[in-house]
Amino acid sequence: MKSSKIIEKIRSMSLEEKIGQLNQIQLEDTEQIREEIRKGRVGSIILADTATAGNDEQKRIDMNLLNELQQIAVEESTAGIPLIFGRDVIHGHHTVLPIPLAEAASFHTELIEKAYRAVAKEAASDGVHWTFSPMIDISRDPRWGRCIEGFGEDPYLTSEMGKAAIRGFQGEDYKNTESIAACAKHYLGYGAVEGGRDYGKTEISDYTLRNYYLRPFQAAVEADVATVMNSFSEISGQPVASSRYLLHDVLKEELGFNGFIISDWASIAKLVSHRVAKDEKEAAMLAAGAELDMDMVDRCYIEHLGELAAEGKVSEETIDKMVYRVIYIKERFGLFEHPYAERKQINYEEHLSFAKQCADESMVLLKNNGVLPIGQSEKIAVAGPFLYEKRSHLGSWAPDYDAGMLKSIQEAFLDCADKDRFIFPQLPYLWDDILLTLREVNTVVLALGESARVSGENNCLTNIDFPAEQLALIKKIKAMGKKLVGVMCFGRPIALGEAEPYFDAILYAWQSGSCAAQSIADIVCGNVNPSGKLPMTFPRTTGQIPLYYNYPSFFGNGMAYYGEGDNYWDCKSTPMYPFGYGLSYTKFEYSEVGCENNTLTLEELQNGEKFRVSVIVTNTGKYTGKETAQCYISDLVSSMTRPVKELKGFSKIFFNQGECREITFELGFEELGFYNGSGKFCVEPGEFDVFIGGDCTTDNKVKIAVVDEK
Ligand code: GLC
Repeated sequence: MKSSKIIEKIRSMSLEEKIGQLNQIQLEDTEQIREEIRKGRVGSIILADTATAGNDEQKRIDMNLLNELQQIAVEESTAGIPLIFGRDVIHGHHTVLPIPLAEAASFHTELIEKAYRAVAKEAASDGVHWTFSPMIDISRDPRWGRCIEGFGEDPYLTSEMGKAAIRGFQGEDYKNTESIAACAKHYLGYGAVEGGRDYGKTEISDYTLRNYYLRPFQAAVEADVATVMNSFSEISGQPVASSRYLLHDVLKEELGFNGFIISDWASIAKLVSHRVAKDEKEAAMLAAGAELDMDMVDRCYIEHLGELAAEGKVSEETIDKMVYRVIYIKERFGLFEHPYAERKQINYEEHLSFAKQCADESMVLLKNNGVLPIGQSEKIAVAGPFLYEKRSHLGSWAPDYDAGMLKSIQEAFLDCADKDRFIFPQLPYLWDDILLTLREVNTVVLALGESARVSGENNCLTNIDFPAEQLALIKKIKAMGKKLVGVMCFGRPIALGEAEPYFDAILYAWQSGSCAAQSIADIVCGNVNPSGKLPMTFPRTTGQIPLYYNYPSFFGNGMAYYGEGDNYWDCKSTPMYPFGYGLSYTKFEYSEVGCENNTLTLEELQNGEKFRVSVIVTNTGKYTGKETAQCYISDLVSSMTRPVKELKGFSKIFFNQGECREITFELGFEELGFYNGSGKFCVEPGEFDVFIGGDCTTDNKVKIAVVDEK
């Protein structure tokens, strides 16, 4: 139901004022900007100094300046419509959470929601109304630097994490001054860029688009996300920024998205470099024709929509529809009631505890020959290129971090009660210098990783094999007969095929935010039992990419991902580590999968009936710990090829030693359905295998059947 108040408001506005609402500009403290706002030519201001705000240091927010500009918009312009201020608050603000790919490894949606709620409060307290997050692009290619900003390769996990972030940012009461509007991005298919080359082209069939890349955006719309941002990319020849099919027919009509679409940085003007528009005026016409609502910083709308309307090339009715969506979101998020930012009391200690818990639960134990946790009194060397690093623990997209919160890995170990048992051999150029110190220990903890500079936007790698200089280091230390613990502070998955044999233990620490170093020390020392599971497949070597668990059937049951055969001469076809994999210091055992109701009719499913499948999980080890039980389906015969396994549920539970718990998953029409070859979402009668285990390679399964009684 449309708001008559907003409709009345729009009726009272001039065409220039309407177009002004569709214009987002960069922040400048100038009289010219003040005059533009006064004339109603500005609807939003993006708080980003550069086009790649994730890589470059950004000016900190000046809330007083924002309030001054807001006062001009509200009190001096004719329409009096408040500005909406947007910022890339991607995975933290002053308190920084792990990069989203690491957050996904926590498989803990309640924790992520709580942590993002704290992030929203910090950002709102600085005057931010709107964040360009969460990024929910499915990615199967670790060469693509932006894989770190998303939640991995799986549509279901990405959907659940995206919804958690949206709920965290927006809260339950959107008008609450601690809530900020979220933005699901980058719609659509951006993660499929060829070769992992950012901004590249994609070739995605409608079948694949709907069953993989679209699902998280469907979930985001169901979670009532306020805004959506288009991707820079093209899909099979069609730039998304000018695709009426994608932006209007699918997103707005089919999925029912009722917020507004913001273009990615100057992506309307970029239609000229896509060569689908001869100039920016034509670009504006194409984008408005697709009903891309708001124009980020390239001024195509404010410069050309007026003319295009006068020429009848863009109807005022279309402009009114776009303006309605923008004002609707401003109204929903209380900008009319409280347009001015007010500082809030922030409990940073509490926020840091959330960041610490996220880091604790995101890190993934990939290997452990019993060397972790380190012995209570053992003398240990802690060394490596990341020993003193701080900034790179925050990853890309952390423009507002509080440097005072950061610790290095060395500082975190020095904070330990028994700090005297740690030695920190410097790793100078002259390797011989540390031979003596290493003689004193049997175990070396090596802090390894990559700079935050080599991932994120337009930071891609042709080779994700373990860095050669770090490989040389581990070989030297191993040659001394030491036990070797690798702490991997990388953003993206790194191919560990060559390096893995040298390690006795591998802890994938990702880039885990303000509390990364403390979590690393706590896990290595046994104060925290690691519980992360991989949200993205780890290949053995770069050449295996793309390699993902939810591959269609045919050769070797999903191209031998699960070990049925090999189809390379020079590399096994299985991953180094599969999706959903992660070890614990304790052991979890799964009973056989049970199912209360092995057969349902299609009609029963359509009427909301669900299969209920369950296992008993028991902690049979020596530690308490958390386990993420994962539920996968496999459609055994279908009209189009479907993945050999699809994640459709997960549950992360704490277990005391010896404790056992029954874990149940419900599988209904939504979980068993897919978009068939005609684009129709349906469940096809037939048998499914349902798997429940600790990662995607589990063969613990039960068969269910959907029958069609017609
Ligand atoms: C960038 C990114 C996008 C970001 C926007 C604003 O180019 O692609 O994710 O939100 O511009 O900084």
